[in-house]
Amino acid sequence: MKTKPSAIAVIAFSILVFFLQVVSAVPQDPPPKTSELTAKGKQLYEESCAPCHGIQGDGKGRLAGILSPPPHNFTEPLQDWKNSKGDPAKIFGVIKNGVPNTAMVGFSFADENAWALVHRVMEFSDKKAGR
Ligand code: HEC
Repeated sequence: MKTKPSAIAVIAFSILVFFLQVVSAVPQDPPPKTSELTAKGKQLYEESCAPCHGIQGDGKGRLAGILSPPPHNFTEPLQDWKNSKGDPAKIFGVIKNGVPNTAMVGFSFADENAWALVHRVMEFSDKKAGR
């Protein structure tokens, strides 16, 4: 029996959709740091992260005292960061998925906003290191 062209189109389309999903699930490279992204990261950080991680990124937010483990101190050298070792893709993953069994929950930010936050938190460490 000859397969109908429309059936072939449906199969081809399904395969395409499948691959697009696989590709989009792989963490991409961070988008370039524009002034717009930096401003966005700063705003989102102050709204959503500073209560735990502190406005200066030093882990001394308002809620820090009651948390165990305590919020991460972003001014530490990147290679000492416990979960990500300062790897941007892993920081992105922490922001999206959280750290199990800690107060660090996953946030449902759009990818662009999550990358803005990756830049923001890394800046605290860069600044301390004079970069
Ligand atoms: C309710 C408190 C709380 C809030 C709000 C919070 N965090 Fe966290 N975060 C934590 C805690 C606690 C840890 C430490 C987890 C651990 O020790 O493994 C952490 C760890 C992290 C880490 C892991 C660093 C590393 O590599 O070890 C990143 C990145 C991070 N937070 C980013 C953020 C960002 C960005 C926001 C705002 C969108 C945010 N956090 C909001 C409590 C919080």
